[in-house]
Amino acid sequence: MTVYDVIEAKKCGKELTEAQINFFVRAVTDGTASDAQIAAFCMATLLKDMTQKECFLLTMAMADSGEKCVRPRSEGVFADKHSTGGVSDSTTLVIVPILASLGIRCAKYSGRGLGHTGGTLDKLESFPGFRVDLSPEEFESQVERVGAAVSGQTKNTVPADRRMYAVRDVTATIDSIPLIASSVMSKKLASFADIILLDVKYGDGAFMQTPQKAEQLAKWMVHIGNRAGRKTIAAVTDMEQPLGDSIGCNAEVREAIDVLKGKKNDLAELSLFHCQKILCAARGTTEEEAKALAEEAIRSGAALEKLAEMVYAQGGDARAIQDDSLLPLAPNRTVIRAEKSGTVRVFARPLGKACLELGGGRMKEGDSVDHTVAILLKKRTGDKVQKGDALAEIYYQRENEEACALVKQAFSIVDKLTARPLVYKFIEEDR
Ligand code: URA
Repeated sequence: MTVYDVIEAKKCGKELTEAQINFFVRAVTDGTASDAQIAAFCMATLLKDMTQKECFLLTMAMADSGEKCVRPRSEGVFADKHSTGGVSDSTTLVIVPILASLGIRCAKYSGRGLGHTGGTLDKLESFPGFRVDLSPEEFESQVERVGAAVSGQTKNTVPADRRMYAVRDVTATIDSIPLIASSVMSKKLASFADIILLDVKYGDGAFMQTPQKAEQLAKWMVHIGNRAGRKTIAAVTDMEQPLGDSIGCNAEVREAIDVLKGKKNDLAELSLFHCQKILCAARGTTEEEAKALAEEAIRSGAALEKLAEMVYAQGGDARAIQDDSLLPLAPNRTVIRAEKSGTVRVFARPLGKACLELGGGRMKEGDSVDHTVAILLKKRTGDKVQKGDALAEIYYQRENEEACALVKQAFSIVDKLTARPLVYKFIEEDR
């Protein structure tokens, strides 16, 4: 068998066998397959699609392509939550301390931001000194002591995905359901969570533009996770507008802290929804009991204390939780105002791109991120405005006309709006 044969079979729309898939993934991992061949395979898959069986086999082969994360010795249920990526999505910063304060262990490997979407590791590094490069031993020991750790996966975890993702990123082959599903789930399965909650975003700021596409992706990932023996559930959620009211690392961390202090907004609502679903899956509690537990973790301050414990354990300055001068915003401010009266509709993607323009994101792996730049939303979709009202504030180090234009472009003032639910669908089984 050759890599060429596997590409040829997929190009002709054939269902690949387990042997062909394993051969291809081995060739990606050991370097025998060239970038050109990986690109051809990904394009053939994008155009000819895969069956669920092929996608499952591809995921398992990718998950096995490198080191597996060692399950900490701690007793108890391990939970993981994964978002397919969006703008102002800081739910991990809210969910992990809530669940850990309730005895659900969160041993979470997260990623960095790329393009217009933000990344949890970058946000956590807003806490001065916070380390996201824990060794497997440090990670395990922190989960034992604190009940929560969030770190980056090492270069040796799922190397096949690392290579395939880099090729997909520059060959317009990201938006294929089997390729996204295998990429996400291979990383989840290389770790050890008993319960995996997938937050599959749709809309302007997401990979999937329609709820139908997002639902299909969610179903495929739920199928893969359950078939691999993990309890996997998914929520299809709206990412037309940013989830929170803040974009930019320091600003998003400030907002997550505010939610843990009781602030109510869409970020709080979705974080509580996810906690509720994970608690139901982990403990068999009713929805009402689970909701009450999560709300009490916030009200009592237990979740905030858990965040401080986790930040301290990872070398970060936990004083930032009470003193936001340790999470500074850039010194210069511009206010974007409504040019007419009406109802606001906000789009996430131009806001994510504006943050990127200002230096608050990463165009390519390895770029540095300015944690202080921020865009604060003063109005959200459905809000009424009068001409001249503030829509957003931009905090920046250097003036950037392009960024201002993008923020303006993110707001339209309309006469009528169709309401979009925050959670479009919850999926428990791939039926
Ligand atoms: N996130 C991933 O990890 N992989 C994809 O393919 C898309 C989003």
